[in-house]
Amino acid sequence: MRILVMYDSFYGNTERIAKAISEGIREGGHEVDCRHQSVSGEQDFLGVHLWILGSPTRWGRPTFRFKTLVRNAVKDAGKDHDFVVFDTRFEEVHSGAADRLHRMLSKEGLRPLLPPQNFFVEGSELRSEQEEKALQLGRTIAALL
Ligand SMILES: Cc1cc2nc3c(=O)[nH]c(=O)nc-3n(C[C@H](O)[C@H](O)[C@H](O)COP(=O)(O)O)c2cc1C
Repeated sequence: MRILVMYDSFYGNTERIAKAISEGIREGGHEVDCRHQSVSGEQDFLGVHLWILGSPTRWGRPTFRFKTLVRNAVKDAGKDHDFVVFDTRFEEVHSGAADRLHRMLSKEGLRPLLPPQNFFVEGSELRSEQEEKALQLGRTIAALL
């Protein structure tokens, strides 16, 4: 089964989470491609069964360029995919990038494997235990496959 972890990141937090999730999936015995959206395109989604998508939360939303990439991927690669979405954000907000992406993809008819996953920052830095949490998420995803 092909698995893609696609993420956006300006300052590296979401990238660190994406890499830790990928590592957890590999530990679980699966291959995974992990890519920053800036070096990717819709073609990377073609033929991929599981999409794992992550964005920083900016003004309560995913980044515009990431949402556009995901929308175009659905147009090009179709709806027959499982997905997991994650974001990085301040804990105190109640809704963020992952919730928005989750709603958008569910409405389109793609299948959520898990609820939206959130990873928290303090100031501009990831909280210390968040990468371990991401590694664990990767292992959990691998066990579900
Ligand atoms: C311009 C800007 C807007 C942000 N808006 C929000 C927000 O609305 N809600 C939130 O929880 N975090 C917000 N944050 C915090 C970021 O989501 C957080 O720092 C994130 O981990 C950055 O990801 P990156 O390091 O991958 O770029 C904002 C950060 C920036 C720089």
